[in-house]
Amino acid sequence: MPKKRDLLSLLNYKQEEIYRLLSQAMEFKRRYRLSLDKQVLAGKSIALIFNKPSTRTRISFEAAITQLGGNAVYLTATDLQLGRGETIEDTGKVLSRYVDAIVIRTFAHADVEDLAAAADVPVVNALTDDHHPCQALADLMTILEKKARLAGVKLAYIGDGNNVCHSLLIGAAKMGVDFVAACPPGYEPDAGIVEAAQADPAGATVAITGDPKEAALGADIIYTDVWTSMGQEAEAKARLRDFSGFRVDRKLLSLAKPDALVMHCLPAHRGEEISAEVLDGPQSVVFDQAENRLHVQKALLAWLIGEG
Ligand code: CP
Ligand code: NVA
Repeated sequence: MPKKRDLLSLLNYKQEEIYRLLSQAMEFKRRYRLSLDKQVLAGKSIALIFNKPSTRTRISFEAAITQLGGNAVYLTATDLQLGRGETIEDTGKVLSRYVDAIVIRTFAHADVEDLAAAADVPVVNALTDDHHPCQALADLMTILEKKARLAGVKLAYIGDGNNVCHSLLIGAAKMGVDFVAACPPGYEPDAGIVEAAQADPAGATVAITGDPKEAALGADIIYTDVWTSMGQEAEAKARLRDFSGFRVDRKLLSLAKPDALVMHCLPAHRGEEISAEVLDGPQSVVFDQAENRLHVQKALLAWLIGEG
């Protein structure tokens, strides 16, 4: 039997694998529009373990699985014996006897790595404190759709060097997208992740600056995410203070190319990391971006466990 594949981060995905997933996702989108979804997950069950809230990720996975003929089993840690001290490894071993894949959203990235190491079935990271690879795949798909290319596109990420920023910079570097993050001091992305992305042979640039204007200048894409991620609520007040000056507003957007797109993984806090007029404005593609979660996750599940 071939070795199972996981999606824990995009670090060990090759450029051609990502291209294949993106083009498959576009094909799933086309079929969905025509109500021609194939039942490639018929008879498959997929466990969805969510230890943090979710609107897009949970519902797009559940809908994707249903539309492809599979069965989603939604669980939280409190539904599982995991919440009463059963180990993540035992959970992975047992679930592998029942289901065909495990999708997990949790806090520590190491927990997802431990689950994947113990499980015999593919494990998909639906967001950890460090990575959000499914989001980055949908982001790349959206850029490819809207700009008809990835190589040479300039993406400016403004804000917190968080999980979303990490996955986006890894994916961007692999696909030849020039990436610059503007972050306040102390909120830069993880240096090890930046270094790994910079070493990617696709040759795209990955830069970090403290100046949002410098990052936004001439950008094709302006991307932001919340200043306080799930699990960081105790720091919210300090973060509001530290991120002042990093809001994506009309003035900052005016430095980007005239046809620049505005992206946000959502949920958004209008008036914090992004002004309402920019998020809801004509350059924003955030709802197409959110929709693409559905299509890219279909491509991913079909590739990992289906006939795709
Ligand atoms: N973007 C994203 O992952 O949204 P949810 O937290 O709603 O899943
Ligand atoms: N960085 C955010 C992303 C939410 C989709 C968080 O982790 O809460």
